[in-house]
Amino acid sequence: MKIQVLKDYGEMSRAGAEIIAETVRDNPRAVLGLATGATPEGVYDVLVEKYAAGEIDFSEVTTVNLDEYCPIEPSDDQSYRYFMEKHLFSRVNIRPENTNVPMGNAADPAAEAKRYEELLASLGYADLQLLGVGQNGHIGFNEPAAALFAETHLTPLTESTLAANSIYFTDRAMPTEALTMGMASILRAKRILLLASGKSKHAAIARLLEGEISTECPITFLLLHPNCTVICDRAAYEG
Ligand code: GLP
Repeated sequence: MKIQVLKDYGEMSRAGAEIIAETVRDNPRAVLGLATGATPEGVYDVLVEKYAAGEIDFSEVTTVNLDEYCPIEPSDDQSYRYFMEKHLFSRVNIRPENTNVPMGNAADPAAEAKRYEELLASLGYADLQLLGVGQNGHIGFNEPAAALFAETHLTPLTESTLAANSIYFTDRAMPTEALTMGMASILRAKRILLLASGKSKHAAIARLLEGEISTECPITFLLLHPNCTVICDRAAYEG
């Protein structure tokens, strides 16, 4: 695992976007695993700038997002599909049919999880998987637990995640479940790029740096990946 500590959110975002841009330059047909949340917003802004400057072409790129609330309509302004359209897809030349987010409104979430995992397998999993991390060490929505799921599945959200994310659901209760790639779906990516910014992520980063792998802190499974880069800002690294 390579760890890079940069000054602040802006530097972290530029460095993260550069790795994604390089991946697409090396392989214009790359499969990008994408993430939502406040952390990657800056990366998407830099990618849009690079696209506008003619430095990156998304026309042959395919994307697979990590997770989605369930139940939620894709058109809901708090859905991860909506987030991706707003922050990236509508701002670059990616083909809509090449973008994939689990369907949070599926009538049968278990069947949707199976469909999504089969889709990932058919694409050969991500060439590069972008990750943020939850305050409790979750990746995607793989929450701390006695056991973790390998493949895409429906999961209840923990109190910590409900508390962290409910600020976005100002006018209603947030969904209490989500569809998420599993640990193996994530670890099958050829390369992983995890970004962490701010003091609230320090505990999770500190656990990762301790070097012990625990299902109670899912980020620590990244220690098993042969090509994982972690970019933190100083606040996340130092606490
Ligand atoms: C969310 C997402 C994760 C994300 C994490 C951190 O709930 N499911 O994929 O990495 O929590 O979010 P943020 O970047 O907003 O702190």
